[in-house]
Amino acid sequence: MLSTKVTCKSHGQDSSYFLGWQEYEKNPFDPVHNPSGIIQMGLAENQLSFDLLESWIARNQENDWFNKKGGSIFRELALFQDYHGLPEFKKVLAEYMSEIRQNKVKFDTNKLVLTAGATSANETLMFCLAEPGDAFLIPTPYYPGFDRDLKWRTGVEIVPIQTSSSNNFKITKSALENAYQQAQNLHLKVKGLFITNPSNPLGTSLSLEELNLLITFSINKNIHIVSDEIYSGTVFDSPRFVSILEALDPRISTRVHIVSSLSKDLGLPGFRIGLIYSNNETLISAATKMSSFGLISSQSQFLMSKILSDKRFIGKYVMENRKRLKNRRKMLVLGLEKSGIKCLESNAGLFCWVDMRPLLDSETFEAEMELWMKMVREFGLNVSPGSSCHCSEPGWFRVCFANMARETLELSVKRIRALVDSKLGINVKKYRLKKPHFTTSRPAQDLKLIQLQKNKITEKFEGMSAAAAGNTILCRRVMLLRR
Ligand SMILES: Cc1ncc(COP(=O)(O)O)c(C=O)c1O
Repeated sequence: MLSTKVTCKSHGQDSSYFLGWQEYEKNPFDPVHNPSGIIQMGLAENQLSFDLLESWIARNQENDWFNKKGGSIFRELALFQDYHGLPEFKKVLAEYMSEIRQNKVKFDTNKLVLTAGATSANETLMFCLAEPGDAFLIPTPYYPGFDRDLKWRTGVEIVPIQTSSSNNFKITKSALENAYQQAQNLHLKVKGLFITNPSNPLGTSLSLEELNLLITFSINKNIHIVSDEIYSGTVFDSPRFVSILEALDPRISTRVHIVSSLSKDLGLPGFRIGLIYSNNETLISAATKMSSFGLISSQSQFLMSKILSDKRFIGKYVMENRKRLKNRRKMLVLGLEKSGIKCLESNAGLFCWVDMRPLLDSETFEAEMELWMKMVREFGLNVSPGSSCHCSEPGWFRVCFANMARETLELSVKRIRALVDSKLGINVKKYRLKKPHFTTSRPAQDLKLIQLQKNKITEKFEGMSAAAAGNTILCRRVMLLRR
């Protein structure tokens, strides 16, 4: 018998986001050993610039890394347990954070807590800022892992701020007020606003005006803001990244908290290097005590302090990595456009937010799930359905482009084209898996969401005659015809 805490459903493990990974693991694509396997496009990993880091390591393989004046550092690292972290590492990490923000804001090491990745940072913040049963408002669509990271062990509730494709998923004042009202209706105390800037899954960053809107709202409601800026180093196009710290208002400066990590821009999720940054002394003190539960190993801190202190290398890395991300995105966007599929315009991240509404058999989340299953099962592509990101409109998918070789992305684009052809009634043989693998049943969590959304969608369609609704889909299909 296990505790209710571990057996409760709020982890979100049965979401299509995680089930897609399981499917991939049973039949992973490999260009030589398994060319008809599933291509993983549901994982926001950055593998585009490993060669740069590897060649830095090769160039700097110092035999005496573990030696320092007066003896070996090995014992020091092996015994090091201070939850404040290695001072030298914190110093260079703070400088790196400032540089990523074009030195518009300065990071002070006394206001920084080290954590085992952004996952741990986010959970720690929820633990410190809210009681079980309190709520955070989060704009949708959002990173599916938040259901686990923010809710599961802390008992915090997420209330979605609904956004829509009609204004490119931008957060509006009325959407903020509606979410706040919804929390009140549910008798939930709202403790804060949680944003991801740049957004996962949208790949867009927030403007100063948008940040000001959020700040004004939070001042008025007397709540906190947590800004997860894990993708700040991946901004590859204009507009430039604006951190919430640039928009700080003295009335809220101790209620704004930043989260980041080296998992995305430096592509090092395995190193588990994350942080919390805040002007709130009491919070920093509490989070430092909590960091004992998720420390970064001293070896990782030591190695990263060496790499980050090479300012010339890091400067070049950041520029080159951005260039590579931009090229990759372009490759995917152009490839999809040739098949009539559009992506949301974006300037950051390791993924595109892809509009596959024209491929749905109906404007429902059931149809979205059918399409996703077809993609995984018949065309060997694991992408993340919008419903797993709590998107309020069916038909959007997050498609990752930075975790694979260029040739694999080319093949993915061909497979998507074949999928579109099959939806257009063309008999597709090439790029269709011969022996479709699929063992999981429909994702339970998403089906629950589907049920919740069903009424909303039905209402939407009730206003249109059946023929008109059919026509909309038909028109979309026609748009798919290639130029
Ligand atoms: C928005 C966001 N926050 C946090 C995380 C977790 O990052 P980490 O690997 O640093 O724990 C992710 C990972 O995908 C993410 O997309």
